[in-house]
Order: sequence, then structure tokens, then C-alpha cells
Amino acid sequence: MENKNYLFTDFDKLIFGGDYNPEQWRATPEIWDEDMRLMKLAHWNEATVGVFSWAELEPQEGVYDFSVPDAIFEKAEKNGLKIILATPSGAKPRWMAEKYPEVLRVSEDRHRELYGKRHNHCFTSPVYREKIAEMNRRLAKRYSHSPALLCWHISNEVNGECHCEYCRAAFIEFLRKKYDNDIEKLNHQWWTRFWSHRYDNFEQVEPPSSKGETLVHGLTLDWRRFVTAQTMDFMNHEIAAVKTYSDKPITTNLMGFFTGIDYRELAKTVDFVSWDNYPNWELTYGDVGQASWIGMTHDCMRSLKRKNFLLMESTPSHVNWKDINKLYRPGKMRIASLQAIAHGSDSVQYFQWRKSRGSSEKMHGAVVDHYGKEDTRVFREVAELGAELEKISCVAGSEVVSKAAILYDWDTVWALQELQGMQKQHKRYGEATHLHYGAFHRRGINVDLIGRKDSYEGYDLIVAPMMYLCEESTAEKLAKYVENGGTLVATYAMAQANENDLCHLGGWPCGVLMDVFGLRAEELDTLYPEESIKINAFGAEYLAKDYCEVLKVKDAEVIATYGSDFYKDLPAATVKQYGKGKAYYIAFRDKNGEFTDKLIGDIAKELSLPTAIAGKPIPKGVTAKVRENGEEKYLFLLNFSGKEQDMELDGEYTVITTGEKINAVHLEINGGVVLKK
Ligand code: GLA
Ligand code: ZN
Repeated sequence: MENKNYLFTDFDKLIFGGDYNPEQWRATPEIWDEDMRLMKLAHWNEATVGVFSWAELEPQEGVYDFSVPDAIFEKAEKNGLKIILATPSGAKPRWMAEKYPEVLRVSEDRHRELYGKRHNHCFTSPVYREKIAEMNRRLAKRYSHSPALLCWHISNEVNGECHCEYCRAAFIEFLRKKYDNDIEKLNHQWWTRFWSHRYDNFEQVEPPSSKGETLVHGLTLDWRRFVTAQTMDFMNHEIAAVKTYSDKPITTNLMGFFTGIDYRELAKTVDFVSWDNYPNWELTYGDVGQASWIGMTHDCMRSLKRKNFLLMESTPSHVNWKDINKLYRPGKMRIASLQAIAHGSDSVQYFQWRKSRGSSEKMHGAVVDHYGKEDTRVFREVAELGAELEKISCVAGSEVVSKAAILYDWDTVWALQELQGMQKQHKRYGEATHLHYGAFHRRGINVDLIGRKDSYEGYDLIVAPMMYLCEESTAEKLAKYVENGGTLVATYAMAQANENDLCHLGGWPCGVLMDVFGLRAEELDTLYPEESIKINAFGAEYLAKDYCEVLKVKDAEVIATYGSDFYKDLPAATVKQYGKGKAYYIAFRDKNGEFTDKLIGDIAKELSLPTAIAGKPIPKGVTAKVRENGEEKYLFLLNFSGKEQDMELDGEYTVITTGEKINAVHLEINGGVVLKK
């Protein structure tokens, strides 16, 4: 069976492993042998090595020492362990910073950092680029033929920005290209006549700084795009060096909804995405909300390439960097891991294999504790999950198929971040997105999180929450989508500004969208946090918070009205038939998601969007997700509700691990099951 979604050609199981730092135990190589013994017991089939190895691999400039990875590759080959090999650019050796200060970042206040920490190189520095290219070529040449090598892991959690003169020059080049070397084009798009901020020439442009310019939004937006582009350029530079000798797939570990880089762009540099997931179980929204939020993050990561991904890091027990580092309760690590797979991961990987003995991560959860042996709760839970993953390996490469999508764009994240207005500090775009996501998640309806510039093909329903940044061309694309039969749901703050954050003249939603929705928004009211506004809809009463728009409806049907304040009885939500499709507009932020849940639920029914269990209710807090591969359907049921649950199924299923046939399921607290149909 051909799996177009399968990530590898030479491995067809679910990957089970994680970050492994043998260099920390260089003085006690007997620990490496113990690691191999313990990895077998834990059912690990993969180890990610080399993430922060540069000082070991190149202890002095131009002096290379591959004895640690040599030994580990040899052991891996003997033990049937796969290696994901990282390039070491995530942290640099001390000698390099000493000899070439340019590799150190300059912060936004224009101070060069001292040596220390990690993830803080200048991504433009010619020296850093030269050094990492040489290193990557050597690694690729040395290990590309090892049967243990599975794929490449470029750097680590690439992030941050640099304000040195190299970076500034590169930014200016970026702008020259974008604005056809015409400073007046830039002045217009950045609206610099405001406060006399106009530029005479490109050389005057400085990256945003708290000591200087931060209020020209075209600048701040283009700077974020430049940081993305320069990070990609650095990634491509690293990748080209690897590819001189190796054709294994390339990935890099992302951080979910990290706002510093446009991940939709960055994902273009790699063959598949991987990401590091550290949920706040038992905290932020309670586990029901947290599971839904994490589900949304997995879906976002999968949608970056509309392809399966790897869960590159997660903790087997707890982290060390949160304010409160609570243990995962028994069973939680298992269902959190299965959740990643349910949403399209082909791996469960941990940070970290063995607790380091000193420095900042010595108290971070690991498979192997300082105690050093296998008789611990965490090791046992890891080993049990490893054994289970071997049994359910048939799901590897199967797909999450979605007929619905939510639009989520980093451009809008950035524009809303900078926007002076609304609730100035917290626009809560993520929350607005999640409000809609929840309606799909609760029903077990698969949904992608795509960008406005991605293809809309194959989606019966597209939701565009708080889509502030939307250029005319996207407006036209959305109009076409509806005209051809798609259903579109948009909300307040829709299409107010163009791609450079210039407000659309003529009002919002811009251009053709006014016709699509049959209305225009005249005013946007921002409420104090404790306020709410009544909403009347579907014969019931709901509540709005934060934002309420006053609409001028032209030819749309009103499906909700405001029930209080000066816009009492005016339209609060509408629908219009446009071409073969329908366009819904929700003018307010739903206080507790009940209106949105009802509306999306009704639309999903009308469009017959497939649910995980046809016609049967899913208890609140149970994640129900389907992956399929053309022949088989895999149903994941995971209980994050904090209560025991009983569920009926829509027919007979097989429990993959036991072969048992069932029509109903009993789930313990933090319990879960993977079924086949
Ligand atoms: C990140 C890093 C890892 C490690 C973990 C700790 O995800 O990539 O190196 O520091 O956090 O949770
Ligand atoms: Zn720099």
C-alpha cells in the first residue's frame, strides 16, 4: 500500500525516541552501553543526537573530533536504533565567540551580547555561516552512509533576531527588493508622512528598537518578515551544506504558535515539520480546554505542509522551566502522546533520554533519572507506551483528512500585536481562533489551520476568525471560494488592513467582501474585560465580550441581534447566499463559545462534515480523532475529561493492541484507546 503521507522511505514504524546527549557522559562511556540496554527496555527505536555538540565536535578552530558520534552510530547500528542527527548551530563553542565576536547577537538596544546560553547566534554573520557549513558538510560526509541515519534535524528551535550591522544591511537589501529600490514606494506603504517619519533613502532604515522606531507598523511588520526570511536563508545555507553529501530528509523542530517567525514560510525549507510540545496540563484552561488547545496546535503544525509531522520533543514527566513544574499524573503522558499521533504525528519523542547531572536542565524530566535504573514510574510508563506503539504501528503514514479549515496567519498575529487600539495589550487572536476550533474539536471533526495564501481546494467550510490583515487579492480569492459553493464564516475585524497594514479605504471588510457578506462594519466597540453584551439568536440568549461591531447590513439575513447597549436590536450575526455558497459574519466575540458552537455545529450538519463517530455523542473532554489510509480508519479516543466515560460507537471496531471486537468503550480517567474499523 502506498502511503503518500509517509515521511520516510526506509522506515515504516511509529518513531519512539528523543533527545540523547551522550557527549555529557563522555568520561564514563560505560553509561553509553547502559543507555543501549535501557533504550531496548524502553522500546526506543530512535535517538536524536548532536543537538548541542559543537564544542565536542570542533574543540578548537579547525580541529575536529567525531569520536562521540562515531561511537554512538556504531552502537546504534548494532542495536537497530535510528539516529536523527542534528546540526549543532543551536549553541556555539566558546572559542568562536572569543575569536569572532560577530557571531554573537546584537540586541534591539544595540548591545552585543556576551558569550553564553544558546539559540543566540547572528544569522547573517559570514563567519558563523562559514563555520556551520564546514561542520555540516563533515557530518553529512561522515554519516550519510550509516544505515542508522534516519533524517536531519537542522539546528534547534530556531528563533530570535539580531540587530548588528550585517543584519541591518541585509534588512535594507530585503526592503530594496520588496519596494523596487524606490523609497517613495516604501514611504507610501509605511505611511511615513505620519509624525514626519519619512525616509529620504534606504540607508536611513534602522530595524525597530525601543530606543528608536517602533510605531511605524509597516516597518515592524516588514522586520518580522525579514527575520523570517533571514532565518530561512540561514536554514537553507545549513541545508545546502548537508545536501552536498546526504539525501536524507530534513526537518527542524518548531514551537507551535511561537510568534517570532512565520512558520508557514519557514516550513518551506524542510521536508516535513516537527515540533516540541510542552502542555500545561491541569493549568490554563483545565485539561478539557488544554487538550483542545494542544489539538489545535498539532493541527496547525500538520497543516503547515498538509503532511504528517514528528512530535520531536515532549516530556515524559515534567519540565523545569515553568513557574510550577508539576508531575504528569499516571496515564497523562500516554494520552498526550497518543493525542499527537491522533492529530498526524508519526512519532512520540521526548526531551530527554537521561537527566543531565549539572547546569540548568538537571531537574528536567527524563526517561532515565539520576537514579539511573529502570524501576521507576516514569521509565515504566515510557516502556509500556513504547510496547503499545509497536503494536499500533499500522497507523504510521495514515492521514488526517479535513473538509474544514480555519485561517490562521502570522501576518495577522504581528499586525494585531502592534496595533494601537482595541484591547491594546491583548487582542487574543489565538483565543479567537480556538473559540472556533473548539466547535470542531468537540464533535471530532477534522480541521486544518491554513494560511490565507494556501489553496482552499477540498474544503467545504472555511472559518476566518479576526482576519484583520487581508489584501484585496485574498478578498477576491475568498469571494471566489464562496461563489463556487464554499461556506465562509468570518468575524469582527475582518479585512481591515492590507498586507502592509494600511487600512483599506472604503471601509471593512474590504472590497468585494462587502458584497459577499452583504454588509459593512461601521464601528468596532471594545468592552472592558468585565463587561458583556446580550446576544439574541436561535431563540436563546448568548453573551458577547471584548468586541462588538455595529453593522450596516445591506442584503444579508440577520441571524443574531444585540440585546443590550446602544446597538440593542441591531444585527450581531448574518448570513448571505453568494453564488453557490454562503457567507456568515459574526460581529462580536462570543463570551463562552456557546453561540459559535451552535452555529458551527449547525453548519457542519448541513454540510455533512464527517465526525469521528457518526451520529453518536462524544462526551465533553474526550478527544475523538480519525486517521485513515484509504483501506482502514483508525479511531483515537482519549479521555482528558477528568472523569470516567462510557461511549457508544457507530458500529464494530477492533482494539488494535488486543484484537478485541467492541461496539462501546469504557474510558478510565486519563485513559485512551486506539481502534480500527
Ligand atoms: C526545548 C529545547 C530542548 C530543551 C527543552 C526543555 O524544547 O529544544 O533543548 O531545552 O526545551 O523542555
Ligand atoms: Zn547580526
